[in-house]
Amino acid sequence: MHILLIGSGGREHAIAWKLASSPQVNTVTVAPGNPGMRAEPGVETVAIDATDVDALEAFAKQYQVDMTVVGPEAPLVIGLVDKFEAAGLRVLGPTQAAAQLEGSKDFAKQFMTRHNIPTAAFETFETSADALAYLNTHPAPIVIKADGLAAGKGVVVAQTDAEAQQAVRDMLDDGAHGAAGARVVIEECLIGEEASFICLVDGTHALPFATSQDHKARDEGDTGPNTGGMGAYSPAPVVTTRVHDKVMQQIVNPTVQGMAKDGAAFKGFLYVGLMIDAKGDPRVIEYNVRLGDPETQPLMMRLDSDLTELFNATIDGNLNSVEANWSSDTTLGIVMAAGEYPRGSSRGEVIKGLKDAAATGAKVFHAGTAVDDSGNTTTAGGRVLCVTARAENVSDAKALAEKAAANIQWPNVHWRRDIGYRAVARLLGANA
Ligand code: AMP
Ligand code: GLY
Repeated sequence: MHILLIGSGGREHAIAWKLASSPQVNTVTVAPGNPGMRAEPGVETVAIDATDVDALEAFAKQYQVDMTVVGPEAPLVIGLVDKFEAAGLRVLGPTQAAAQLEGSKDFAKQFMTRHNIPTAAFETFETSADALAYLNTHPAPIVIKADGLAAGKGVVVAQTDAEAQQAVRDMLDDGAHGAAGARVVIEECLIGEEASFICLVDGTHALPFATSQDHKARDEGDTGPNTGGMGAYSPAPVVTTRVHDKVMQQIVNPTVQGMAKDGAAFKGFLYVGLMIDAKGDPRVIEYNVRLGDPETQPLMMRLDSDLTELFNATIDGNLNSVEANWSSDTTLGIVMAAGEYPRGSSRGEVIKGLKDAAATGAKVFHAGTAVDDSGNTTTAGGRVLCVTARAENVSDAKALAEKAAANIQWPNVHWRRDIGYRAVARLLGANA
């Protein structure tokens, strides 16, 4: 098979690496990809932007691509899948209508209300006067969200009333997130532990992937600004069998059925961001319509099944006839980011120690990297690498990933030394 994979991050490096390991795959072409992928056997890149739908379609036709897989949300939200399906091309991902689950927070909240799916209470506003009046009767802590896509940066969990008012003014009066912030959702602040619950969905059936947890805050102890994710691991022990059953019954199945009933059957990756309270009751924080980044890196390292078979079953509507097998090991990935991330970022710094890191047995997935004129691998901003390790338990996986990451250096590097700390504490508690 020849597979076209769209995207350029650590998530896409991990998907490409896993797909290329399948005996059914000859070539994975990633558009636009990154330099780390080009070093993988069976993987090549092509310089087409992830949202240049016409050029991607032309490529898929010219090279008779057998399947196209979409990594990030942006091409989905602008209707890549609709266009590819209309052209008779095999493609994995939701249609534009179904992608609204991520593309509009208001759409997602209305959908959950309509289908009785547990989530935080909310209201949507288009003027700051109305939003500020609502805040008068709904004190902090409270959560302010830009309605549209804002690259993971459109959410403010306000701890004070002043912060909440400021977020409303920034979004509705000062256009902090442009059109994405022209509407805001204000919602109740949920308390508990977060987990990422990712499924493949074929329109009718859902195949849950292994559970995972990411760390969204930039700094240790889950402090500092929100980011796309600073590290992740799988499995997430907070998702016990009991919680898993509740998530399937109360959230995943009603979501799949609700989308079909509403005329927007969902195909592709459905990522449910969960808040699990002290009683083990899950509520939806958000939907994404794609795999998580960095959750994908540890997930791909734990997956024993052939990913192409799962993707084919999804496209053909046969997901009920396959299963996904996961290693009993724990995998854990640490994101190494440019110093200023998520507020702008330096680039062009030479990255040292990549070979030494790989020699530890960990896998270094690339995200924001480039190659300079002298052939050095350099930083290209944002999240640069995700160093991912696999071991029998989370403590060992954490130690191995940290050992590998410690080999890697550039002047302005930032990474967290506490990825997986909740799971480590649980493990130590269980062994005490
Ligand atoms: P989102 O982009 O919707 O995933 O939000 C980013 C992060 O903000 C989440 O991972 C949570 O940590 C936090 N968050 C979002 N909504 C809520 C909420 N209703 N209650 C508490 N935390 C939230
Ligand atoms: N790691 C969170 C996300 O991919 O949205």
